[in-house]
This record gives sequence, structure tokens and C-alpha cells, in this order.
Amino acid sequence: MSGFVINGGKKLYGEVELQGAKNSALPILSATILTKGDNILYNCPELTDVDACLRILRYLGCEAKEQNGALVLNCGGLCENEIPDSLMREMRSSIVFLGAILARTGYAKLSFPGGCELGPRPIDLHLKALKKMGAKIFERHGSIVCKAEKGLKGAKIDLSFPSVGATENIILAAVLAEGTTTIVNAAREPEICDLCDYLIDAGAEIYGSGEGVIVIDGVRELYGVSHSIIPDRIVASTLMSAAAVTKSSITVNGVIRNHLSSVIPVFEETGCKVSFKDGNMNFSAPEKLKAMPLVRTMPYPGFPTDAQAPLMAAASVCDGTSVFVENIFENRFKHVGELTRLGADINVQGKVAVVNGVKTLYGAKVEAQDLRGAASLIVAALSAEGETQVSGIEFLERGYENFEVILCSLGADVKKI
Ligand code: UD1
Repeated sequence: MSGFVINGGKKLYGEVELQGAKNSALPILSATILTKGDNILYNCPELTDVDACLRILRYLGCEAKEQNGALVLNCGGLCENEIPDSLMREMRSSIVFLGAILARTGYAKLSFPGGCELGPRPIDLHLKALKKMGAKIFERHGSIVCKAEKGLKGAKIDLSFPSVGATENIILAAVLAEGTTTIVNAAREPEICDLCDYLIDAGAEIYGSGEGVIVIDGVRELYGVSHSIIPDRIVASTLMSAAAVTKSSITVNGVIRNHLSSVIPVFEETGCKVSFKDGNMNFSAPEKLKAMPLVRTMPYPGFPTDAQAPLMAAASVCDGTSVFVENIFENRFKHVGELTRLGADINVQGKVAVVNGVKTLYGAKVEAQDLRGAASLIVAALSAEGETQVSGIEFLERGYENFEVILCSLGADVKKI
């Protein structure tokens, strides 16, 4: 298990470049399965989840190599349509391969993703949609077998919840399907738009991405293209939390302001100042943070569940009481117990966390149990008096590229052990 040793209390300063978005990179890597020719992906973050994706692509017979800082992918040689359990388990989000493999080969067999660190992660919406598009689906011995021997057919799909993964799987299944697919109550996350932009460049006909209704007219073929992954709004939110908790001023380059429209007002309520110039975000925190208003996680454009944990670390040293309501995932307060070890005063009742701000956090040994929880502990440790040892950094590395290097370049004292 790897860890960080953080000596807290250092002010942050300077500027950093924002990495590409993990949650865009994964579905776009999966989408390359549907294309003919070379794809060149720029700004793809170096993460263990991306590595796991590349291992799956290579196992399936695709070529994936790094060239001049970009990823070059060619899936012409795809010869497998089953993903073994060992590869599925490496990445929670590997279900995003289902729609693409099924669309390309008419068959897909994946082991069931099962539960994860955020609680049970059902895929009923994915499977219901694919069935509506003509797939026959069987669940056998922990595996999902999907067949669409005569190809998938466009359908009208009403999602009872705007699931990000289900929307992506439906889009991936629909772009080469016969006829028109309409997704009602589609997820509107920027990463969905990035996937659609990539697919449209590759020749897909998709209308309405970023809106609640997406219409996809199936086409016969898609081609390899060059694409640059959008910046990671969750890493941006984490850096904002880090600057807030240390009462610092930093600049994050390459931020898309609109992607943070529900995050910025929360920081502004605490007294932080956020301004933008030419895509660069200047963030400046006051000496004393005011308590946050009610923070409710919601599907985009609401406050992102992925930013909840890092923000809570900042809330723990605010002046007054902040309230968080987690509406997307059960079990997404695992960082709370560890924040408490650092001296935070947080009470959880079901999906509500009440955070009573304390004057100071104190260094301690803590253990991360999920990706955003790891980020939360690191943010808290940056402000804590003395030394904090954060173990479980392998969770962090699923989604944050060289985070200790980024933080050290901003003046933090972080060592990886
Ligand atoms: C994606 C993101 C994750 C983010 C989440 C919500 C990726 C790789 N991951 O995860 O970082 O936290 O969106 O913004 O992009 N649900 C069902 N049935 C389904 C599918 C989902 O009940 O078939 C439920 C889930 O249990 C959860 C909620 O819907 O409670 C949201 O899940 P979803 O939007 O699908 O999240 P992911 O795509 O897994």
C-alpha cells in the first residue's frame, strides 16, 4: 500500500496546469472500439484507471501506444469480445465497454461489476436499455452475456435516473445501430458532451448532447480522429478545496468555467474569490472561511458528488456549521471517520453530514478507502498541524495524475512513500 506523508500548514502559491478528465477519457477509450483507423488522443491523463482501460483494449486486440505525449489507438484488429474477470476487477467503470463491444461484434461477455467502494453499483438501467435495442441478455455465474446477432436497433429509451454510465453505454450502442435512438432524461455531464464530440468528429450523428434528450441516428461506419480530452473539473474542485483550506491564492490553468458553475458559488459563500482570464482560474481564499450553505449533490449541472469529499475537508475548518446532503451514492461518506481522526467534527445521519467547523486540524495516521475520499484526506492534511500519513494512495492514483508533484509545485510538503 502506498502513502503520502504531509507536513501541513504550508500556504500554497503559484500556478498549475489542469489534467485531462478521467471520466471523459474512459468512455472515449471505449468508443475507439467502434472506429476504423488511427485515433490520436491528446490530454489523456496518466492514471491507473486509464492503464486498466488500455490493458482491456490490448486484450481485445486493439493497438494502443504512446507517441509524442499523445495516445495512438487503432482497434482494427479487435478479435475478442469477452473481458476476463481479472481485467474487469481492475477498474470499477469497465462496464462502459459493454455497449461498444456489443455494437462492434454483436456479442459481449463481461463479469458482473458487483459492489464497489461507493456501495452497490447497479447496472439495471444499462441492461434495460440494451434489451430495448434488441440485445438478448443472460446473467450466468457472475457474468453478463449480451447478444445482438442481427445488430442493435434504435429505440426510445426513458431513463428513470440520468445515469452517466448508462447514458454513455446507450450512446456507444446507438451510434452504429440501425435507425434512431432517443434517450430521454439523459445525463448532461460535460464528459457526456466530450464523448459525443469525439463520436461526431468520427462520423456519428448525435443531437442534443448536454441536454436532457439526446437523439442518435445510427450510421454505417465511424473513423479514427484526433481528439483532446476536456480538463478535469473534479481535480479543479479539489485544488480549489486545497487552496481554501490553506487560505491560499493559486492559479489553475485550463479550467472551463461553465463546468464549475455549481461549485464556484459554494466557495464564494465561504469568502473565496474566483476569477477567470483566458481559461485560467485565479482562486484566492480569505484568512477565515465562512460556513458553506447547504451543499446537495445532484446530477449535472448540480453540485457534483465527486467534489463532495474534498469540499468537506475544507468545510471542516470553516467558521460555523455546514450541511452536506449526498443524493447520488450511498456510502459516500467513508472519509468522514478519517477526517474525524484529524480533529474534524462531523456527524452523519443517513445521507446528511453536519460539519461543525473547528479552529485547527491535527496530523494523524489516516487511511483512504475510495478515490475522492483519498483527495479529501489530502486536502485536510494540507491544513493540519504537524505530520499526517495518508495510506491507500492507490485509490487516489485512479483519478489524480502526479498529485504529490502538483501539490509540491504549489509549495506543499508532500512525500510519497
Ligand atoms: C459516473 C462517474 C463517477 C460519478 C458518477 C455520478 C465515471 C467513470 N464515473 O459514475 O465518477 O460519481 O458518474 O456523477 O464517469 N444507477 C442505478 N442503475 C444503473 C446505473 C446507475 O441505479 O443502471 C444509480 C447508481 O447506483 C447511483 C446513480 O444511479 O446511485 C448514479 O450513477 P451513475 O450516474 O450511473 O454513475 P457512474 O456512471 O457509475
